[in-house]
Amino acid sequence: MNIPEIISKLTLEEKAGLCSGADFWHTKAVERLGIPSIMVSDGPHGLRKQEETTDNLGINESIKAVCFPAGCATASSFDRELIRRMGEAIGNECQAEDIAVILGPAVNIKRSPLCGRNFEYFSEDPLVAGEMAAAFIQGVQSRNIGTSIKHFYANSQEHRRMSSSSNIDKRTAREIYMTAFEKAVKEARPWTVMCSYNKINGTYAADDKNALTDILRGEWGFDGFVMSDWGAVSDRCTSLEAGTDLEMPSSFGFRDRQIADAVREGRLPEKILDNAVERILTIAERYINNRDEKAVFDLEADHELARKIASECMVLLKNEDCILPLDKKADVAFIGAFAENPRFQGGGSSHINAWKTESALSYAAEKGLNVSYCQGYDPLENESDPALIAEAVSLAEKSGAVVIFAGLPDSFESEGFDRSHMRMPDCQNELIEAVAKANPNTIVVLHNGSPVEMPWVSKVKGILEAYLGGQAVGGAAVDILFGDVNPSGHLAETFPVKLEDNPSFLSFPGEGNTAEYREGVFVGYRYYSAKKMPVLFPFGHGLSYTTFEISGITADSSVYTDKDKVSVSLSVKNTGSRSGKAVIQLYVMPETKCEFVIRPPMELKAFDKIYLEPGETKQVSFTLDRRAFAYYDAEAEDWQVPTGYYTLAAGLSSAELTAKTTIHIEGRNFIPKEITPDTLFGDILRINGAMDIIKPYLKAFGLDAGTSDDGAMGGGTAEMIDSMMKYMPVRNLLPFGGGDVDCSDCLELIEKLRDLLEKQ
Ligand code: BGC
Repeated sequence: MNIPEIISKLTLEEKAGLCSGADFWHTKAVERLGIPSIMVSDGPHGLRKQEETTDNLGINESIKAVCFPAGCATASSFDRELIRRMGEAIGNECQAEDIAVILGPAVNIKRSPLCGRNFEYFSEDPLVAGEMAAAFIQGVQSRNIGTSIKHFYANSQEHRRMSSSSNIDKRTAREIYMTAFEKAVKEARPWTVMCSYNKINGTYAADDKNALTDILRGEWGFDGFVMSDWGAVSDRCTSLEAGTDLEMPSSFGFRDRQIADAVREGRLPEKILDNAVERILTIAERYINNRDEKAVFDLEADHELARKIASECMVLLKNEDCILPLDKKADVAFIGAFAENPRFQGGGSSHINAWKTESALSYAAEKGLNVSYCQGYDPLENESDPALIAEAVSLAEKSGAVVIFAGLPDSFESEGFDRSHMRMPDCQNELIEAVAKANPNTIVVLHNGSPVEMPWVSKVKGILEAYLGGQAVGGAAVDILFGDVNPSGHLAETFPVKLEDNPSFLSFPGEGNTAEYREGVFVGYRYYSAKKMPVLFPFGHGLSYTTFEISGITADSSVYTDKDKVSVSLSVKNTGSRSGKAVIQLYVMPETKCEFVIRPPMELKAFDKIYLEPGETKQVSFTLDRRAFAYYDAEAEDWQVPTGYYTLAAGLSSAELTAKTTIHIEGRNFIPKEITPDTLFGDILRINGAMDIIKPYLKAFGLDAGTSDDGAMGGGTAEMIDSMMKYMPVRNLLPFGGGDVDCSDCLELIEKLRDLLEKQ
């Protein structure tokens, strides 16, 4: 297609029409000019392609497809290569099904464990979310299928999701809520971005020109098209001007007419419309030109891949007395309805019509394992059924070990609403307590999309977090339970002891249509570590059937400027007797206290997953650029690295940082931007050479002797200046000068300091 020529031939109405869907899933075609319609589909962890009977809500049944593990699980793999492979498989499925863009990945930050869509999202940490998203996008797009990273941005709750305003300060927005998008856009160049439903500081995300145009395109270089979330557009012309190119789904011509009228009446520059059309056609053409008609959607092969991925994602939270792996000959009881019918995905737009479900029970039977079963609880109920518990206890009493399959039912978490608490159903908690009492060798496998409280945590020997692990979750769990796979997932979110510990607790989900993000940058472990608060399981935690040792961390220098790259290396050894994978996490900890910016005590800045044979040692290296040490300075609208010491701490969990080294970085020095009579002496003294200028004026404070006599005022002069003058504005030379100074002295000093400042 010669796109500029086509645009010149399109009528105004046709151009306006191209900026909204033809129906729920398709863009419009303009046959007379050879413009094809393309189809988009959810996403993110498999294909939800609705066929002919598309309903307006998009909830009708979709084609049979493969449900891969959801984002909560895949993030725990900390494995970019694995997620890339999942992306390739989904991209291939899209080619086979003629879908141009898959609606994912979903990267919103897990601000509260209560968000109903946490199961779809990756992490409380923007680096993990961004890295996983980039890997997924690269995988899908390697098959010439587009992605739509969503929901841009600050869509961290379902409560009033189409009207609530996420009120966030600029620094928090940049450091926490935008970073995953930024990373993915810069590293993986998604074909499209989906804006979120919510408002941000009072402006609908679809209308947020600063985010969609200035930052996304201007700063990050995004060159695809922005589509609205389904029904996220309030005012079509404002949103088009802001940068929302495609409105989804169809507005049945209504909004197209609004666009055309606005252009005709001179309220909307036609160039804006042309740009949007050009972006949409560019992506459509990219897809059409790279169609792979021979692609085959191999359900069996992708099911196997789904199991493999799930087993790399599960997190072994607890393994007392090495209760796991279980002996394949042991007589084991599987208890709990989820053993038979696992909960493997969440409800809503990501819901896949899985062609097959592999339960732990059926897979164990296939493998010839000696497993007995009873239901234990009714997955649709909260209250216990005493008969089911009694049956479970009696089975537990006569079994060698018990695995309870528990978690959250669909009714507890889903797109569309948030949870109101963090508890599992009472019947499941009671079952676990009763069974653990009857058999000390009790293990719990959890199927849930976000953290739960575990009142029974100390009473069971093993806990395996399987998350919503996709249609093969049962098989993957059995592979881990019986040792065919060594677990290697790590938590991409903190499990707090109780909901009230979460930093957003007091302001989530907000008042009416306002959600104040009051905890600022202190989201997840950034908060818990600052508060030194005990948690149930820390961010980054995950056990293995082997043990690893990290040692010998070194940086390539001890002193840097903020323009340098910092190369860090360390060695990791498998000190156990099984092969396994270690997730090495590298955190940056600012050590120099800075009164100008309050920072989290630790932030994850790099990670890698390393496979090691027993006894094997490998060298691991990371390169950190200035962003790893920077905070976002809202006033300067830029990233800044404060001068100071930084510890680089590596380990297998945020709470187990065993290798550390400290470096110094010369970066930003906090000197005043200007000198006024209100500027504090303490701030002025940060300017090189300021002391020499100020010294003669110290007489005004009776401090002239003190400058050369450490004991003149009963303490060293340096300490005196520090303690008394630090918070004194220059203008106070007058009242504290005892009549020896007048206004002109003050002004003279200010002038001299201004000269000095100019020379900095
Ligand atoms: C969801 C999106 C989804 C879209 C299409 C919306 O309600 O928020 O994530 O892609 O529907 O199903």
